[in-house]
Amino acid sequence: MSATNEMSGEVYYPSAEIIANAHIPDYDAVHQAATDDLAGFWDKIARENFEWAEPWHTTLDESDPPFYKWFVGAKTNIVHNALDRHVKTATRNKAALIFEGEPGDSKVYTYQQLNYEVCKFASVLRAQGVRKGDRVTIYMGRIPELMIAMLACAKVGAMHSVVYGGFSTEALLGRIEDSASKVLITCDGAWLRGKVIELKEIANAAVERSETIQSVICVKRIGHDVEMVPDRDYWYHDLMALPIADPNAPTEVMDAEDPLFILYTSGTTGRPKAILHTHGGYMVGTATTLKWVFDIKPEDIWWCAADPGWITGHSYIVYSPLVLGATSFMYEGAPTHPYPDRWWSLIAKYGITILYTAPTAIRGLMRFGETWPQRHDLSSLRLLGSVGEPINPEAWKWYHRVIGNESCPIMDTWWQTETGNFMITPLPSVPLKPGSATRGFPGVQVDVVDEEGNPVGVNEEGFLVIKRPWPAMLRTLFGDPERYVAQYWSRYAEQGWYLPGDSAKKDEDGYIWVIGRIDDVIKVSGYRLGTAEIESALVSHPAVAEAAVIGVPDELRGNVIKAYCILRDGFEPSEQLERELRDHVGVEMGPIAKPSAVAIVDSLPKTRSGKIMRRVLRAQTLGQDVGDLSTLAD
Ligand code: WTA
Repeated sequence: MSATNEMSGEVYYPSAEIIANAHIPDYDAVHQAATDDLAGFWDKIARENFEWAEPWHTTLDESDPPFYKWFVGAKTNIVHNALDRHVKTATRNKAALIFEGEPGDSKVYTYQQLNYEVCKFASVLRAQGVRKGDRVTIYMGRIPELMIAMLACAKVGAMHSVVYGGFSTEALLGRIEDSASKVLITCDGAWLRGKVIELKEIANAAVERSETIQSVICVKRIGHDVEMVPDRDYWYHDLMALPIADPNAPTEVMDAEDPLFILYTSGTTGRPKAILHTHGGYMVGTATTLKWVFDIKPEDIWWCAADPGWITGHSYIVYSPLVLGATSFMYEGAPTHPYPDRWWSLIAKYGITILYTAPTAIRGLMRFGETWPQRHDLSSLRLLGSVGEPINPEAWKWYHRVIGNESCPIMDTWWQTETGNFMITPLPSVPLKPGSATRGFPGVQVDVVDEEGNPVGVNEEGFLVIKRPWPAMLRTLFGDPERYVAQYWSRYAEQGWYLPGDSAKKDEDGYIWVIGRIDDVIKVSGYRLGTAEIESALVSHPAVAEAAVIGVPDELRGNVIKAYCILRDGFEPSEQLERELRDHVGVEMGPIAKPSAVAIVDSLPKTRSGKIMRRVLRAQTLGQDVGDLSTLAD
């Protein structure tokens, strides 16, 4: 790749070889074709690359916006495309998943072996009474059984709801109850930085208070003694050894529009919301974006270093690589355990060809210097990726030079839990600008507009919008269709545009530069957290009467959380109490939600109707202009 300093700053052009080998060598032509005939574009892709039990009669149904439907009338199951069809071909002997545990244990599942486990576990779930349309909560570490559990749910037509293993009791309980899950799949514990996170203990505390969970299935990962409640809790390996665990379990035939999973994420206000994705459109969208953006070839070893508990892992560790018949790598633990070169050693050991991670991880590893990566042969790498937050040019360049040896294009992919797949992203053949996710994936119409929907000027900040539907889009919020409409489609209802909730700029080449969230979502180390949930964890402490949290920029983590609390009568401010409140959030919500600072205050800026003005709090904290205060109470 070569860098130049032309009109619009630094541009990195792909080599002729990269362009020649790319699935899509000419972005403009493909994007134009998709724009001219969006339904026709996806119709052709869906017909040529996937197996359907029955075809669709309508590719895109726009009759009831914003409740769009794709591949209407078609029947399939994403698991049929991810496993069943591959075990009938030579792909059966190919590695589907290569796993390394934090302690150094390693395991490979071929497509044949993975399918065997998924079939058996699907029949275990059926024996537990799990049926099409039911919800199953999964709360586990980053181990192969997490993937097996998700696929088994999809195979029987149940919706999985994966709760990230870094969350804690309250967060887990809230998500179990909201989804009314009847089965919880968990594990005894998870390895992280040489220590054990006692997941079963946390799960027990949640299930004790749950009104919906009937049984708990527990994978033995660590071997610690854990409390198993008779007639409620079962060991995974015991159930898998029973004759009911049928290695030939059939795959439920689903409508393309049937739900595949729900995934909770934080939004503007209130409780986390359950984003709902479907079997058909999600399959077509995730597999096509992975194939084109990361140029997946049969010989690749793809490493998406996210956690399966977030959308990145759902779409790009579990589903799309399998649908493509690719080989995925999964690592259980921390990047710095036992030394800061663990990731680099894994790339050399397994011959990873594509690495996809978050800017926060790159910045974290950058701090340890270049000698750690330089100890390892990273020459197998041919493409790199970034996701979760804007990548600062300094981290981009380090990633490009030190990890990618100046020869690996970096795919900076902007997308969301809601979008299901990459939306603003380069392809390997596209010129790159460090810090910009470039332009819309073919067929994705993105723009930056003002309050009224008029395009803003070049390099001016505005609201990001998406103007046309796409196959992997969320279909609704589970159990709350009104909120789905209000949250994403009401601001530009007249135009029928989707509002992602990010601000951005567009430069003279039409490249998009995402700035950040415009709502009460805080991105901490790329993790998406909601102010409301953290605030409610704080006020659940007996000393706290009221709380407000804001995100404060942080060099390493993107943002950190700062909390402001008003105490109840009878409690005195102290450093000890501040520490206690931080720990309390850690226990209630999970370590990732812990505020980095807690300030005890006498009052909070509020509107006359009593809403906390976080905008004002943030401006005060950062020493910025507080702006329009006309709605402030006093
Ligand atoms: C942010 C993660 C800049 C953005 C896949 C979005 C990004 C939110 C990028 C969604 C990127 C994600 N550049 N910002 N490449 N990727 N974001 O739902 O604010 O966890 O709205 O999905 O992350 O977070 P979520």
